[in-house]
Amino acid sequence: MKGRNHLSSQSEAKKHQLSYHIVPPKGLLNDPNGLIQYKGVYHVFFQWNQHGTVHQSKSWGHVTSTDLVHWEYHEAALEPNDWYDKDGVYSGSAVTKDDTLYLFYTGNVRGVNDSRESYQCLAVSKDGFHFEKEGPLFEHPKGYTRHVRDPKVWQGENGLWYMILGAQREDLTGDTILYTSEDLLDWTFKGSLLEKKLPLGYMWECPDVLQFKEKDLFVFSPQGLEPEGNKFQNIYQTGYLTGQLTPTGQFVSENEEFVELDRGFEFYAPQSFTDQKNRVISFGWVGVMEPEVEAAVPTIKDGWVHALTIPRELTYQNGVLKQQPVEELAAMRTGTPQKVEAEDSIVELTSLQQEVIINWKEDPKAFSMGIRDNVEISYDQETRTVTVSRINWLTNEREKRAVQLKKELKNMRLFLESSLIELFVNDGEEVFTLRYFAEDKDDQLSFSLADKNEQREISVYELTVQ
Ligand code: FRU
Repeated sequence: MKGRNHLSSQSEAKKHQLSYHIVPPKGLLNDPNGLIQYKGVYHVFFQWNQHGTVHQSKSWGHVTSTDLVHWEYHEAALEPNDWYDKDGVYSGSAVTKDDTLYLFYTGNVRGVNDSRESYQCLAVSKDGFHFEKEGPLFEHPKGYTRHVRDPKVWQGENGLWYMILGAQREDLTGDTILYTSEDLLDWTFKGSLLEKKLPLGYMWECPDVLQFKEKDLFVFSPQGLEPEGNKFQNIYQTGYLTGQLTPTGQFVSENEEFVELDRGFEFYAPQSFTDQKNRVISFGWVGVMEPEVEAAVPTIKDGWVHALTIPRELTYQNGVLKQQPVEELAAMRTGTPQKVEAEDSIVELTSLQQEVIINWKEDPKAFSMGIRDNVEISYDQETRTVTVSRINWLTNEREKRAVQLKKELKNMRLFLESSLIELFVNDGEEVFTLRYFAEDKDDQLSFSLADKNEQREISVYELTVQ
């Protein structure tokens, strides 16, 4: 019972607090923005309403780190205080050129009768902490509604700069458009990023291109997809197409198959960057998006809502995308892990920050794990399906998300916090991200075995950020 005593001494406001995820100091956080390692320091910006827990007056919040574990909070980097961004400094990205940091973002301006304008803007910095806005860069492109936003910029091997933007065509279908530039200031419109029109929803947000040796991935967050079996169960989803980026900057999709990046309940609008170790690292928004469910998130009474995922390293090899927690996070492991032997089925949690690693020698017949009497993770060999369910904090009903694995189940790695879980299956070939809100009294993990002779190893680490 030691775990129980320890945990129930937590104060009410601390109950759902997160310790190794980036959260807003107060107010509402959404998309990660401007991810970059600049002058050796990791900078993460994020969509931030400092004034309340609703989607309004977005600025760019700002945290920095030298190790991707400890984050230092700074003042908002960009505030919505100019005519071209007065209703929101919306999402965007960062690059460096000649030691200067360039931030590209969308200025959101609301008009009468729900109309809006969007401006693609630049801000620069010489030190990563003081920012100067340069204003809008170019005219709105023809053929697109005012839903054009979220500039992602990168430099090609040929030295040319590319910018892609989430967009909506005038026929109200989603698209991504491309601009190129030689100096980051003068931009030329090149039309759609894709050579072919794809019927995927009415608006595409937060586009990104990830370049790997073997393939390129076009990642985006389309709105308006209908659920299809286990797929597209959330209100909005994020996924990718595999293919090739041509030298002119067009993306040629290999098979037009849109694959979801995360199978959980809360994951949206991720952004990637390449760090100085040449790793492709991504953060996503752990956002509750269904309006009534979002409004009922229990942390709202503590004055904050939402979080970013832990940093994930993305690799693509032999046709498989893997997302894994960056190796730096292993530094949070404290002491020796608890081992769960085959007969053991209950683990008392000594902390609400834990990492659970499960390795199987061979594909288990079945597996199930309960977390704090709320979340359940299970596997069924017959259908090769991993299912994650939780109790919805608004309706009190159990709801689930599932994915069918391509091969047998080999391992699971779970990052637990007091109200957030990230589950990596088979070295990150599938990932589930979700929030959950459990009662204090339920501080246990339970494991159930299908077969006593099953060969598996379970280690439970306590995590701390000192
Ligand atoms: C995605 C998004 C972006 C926009 C931002 C506004 O979650 O809607 O398209 O730039 O959030 O906060």
